[in-house]
Amino acid sequence: MSSYLPWYLSYSLGAAAVAILSGGALLYHFQCEIIYPANFPEGSRTHVIKPSQYGLPYEDLTLVTSDEVKIKAYLIKQSDDLVARKRPTILFLHANAGNMGHRLSIADVFYRQFGCNVFMLSYRGYGLSEGSPTEKGLKIDAKTALNYIKGHPVLSETKLIAYGQSIGGAVSIDIVAKNQDQFSGLIIENTFLSLPKVIPHVLPMISALSFLCHQIWNSEQMIQYISRLPVLFLSGKKDELVPPAHMMELHRLLDTTGEVVWREFPNGTHNDTCLKPGYFEAIKAFLNNIMKDSDNEKIK
Ligand SMILES: *[C@@H]1O[C@H](CO)[C@@H](O)[C@H](O)[C@H]1NC(C)=O
Ligand SMILES: *[C@@H]1O[C@H](CO)[C@@H](O)[C@H](O)[C@H]1NC(C)=O
Repeated sequence: MSSYLPWYLSYSLGAAAVAILSGGALLYHFQCEIIYPANFPEGSRTHVIKPSQYGLPYEDLTLVTSDEVKIKAYLIKQSDDLVARKRPTILFLHANAGNMGHRLSIADVFYRQFGCNVFMLSYRGYGLSEGSPTEKGLKIDAKTALNYIKGHPVLSETKLIAYGQSIGGAVSIDIVAKNQDQFSGLIIENTFLSLPKVIPHVLPMISALSFLCHQIWNSEQMIQYISRLPVLFLSGKKDELVPPAHMMELHRLLDTTGEVVWREFPNGTHNDTCLKPGYFEAIKAFLNNIMKDSDNEKIK
């Protein structure tokens, strides 16, 4: 073809083809960096706020996953074991930016106002955890956390509730769906049906390439395996990243004998829903309902 075209035209056609191909190749190879911005905000891989900064007692844990990755976690347990045994344990699965330290203000509410035990981790490749994030890896990390909790003398006796925001919602749905017997409830916030379904909305210019997405997080399918647990949906109606219709569809797909609570926050955006009026009241009511049938104390 080049012999019939002026050199500059064949050059630019070639360049365009290279750009499209390499764009696709780049997207394929670097999508983990796009999907899991663990370096954002700056310093997230070197500095992780400690619970002591909030006056919370904690254990700084290093867990080794089944594929030999060392991940960091905080256990923020009610210090009196007799109390801790009667309280829910929250497995906190964070969103895709930053690390567990960025979520301590929320952990503080769970611990102090609701009297919960809180277990939070930085996924592999986040904070001071080793490795790099992938769908497969994050699922292993969540399972590692679950194994730790179930092997813990106090936490193993408590009611366990998974709580996940955004991609943490996908991690939560997956771990709960696969281990329903080990959980007493699920709380999800501003999460999506699957990554291929949300990418065209987040990055319209690459939507034609969304078939290259190898990170799937098929919550749309997994949520249908949850058949007997209570689930709380927290949906920010001004979510600019994940269209709120995804949460509505997850809610529609869920078929469980447990209590299903739908709460929406008219002014809630992707990250700030937890600051909206009624957010923690919704969580408190949900936790109280889970605890009501046991001899556990009501959350004040
Ligand atoms: C949402 O924001 C508007 C404008 O700031 C305010 O008037 C309204 O009361 C808010 N709604 C809720 C439910 O917080
Ligand atoms: C949400 O968090 C991300 C990452 O930390 C940040 O880039 C963004 O500005 C935040 N958005 C809002 C609405 O707070």
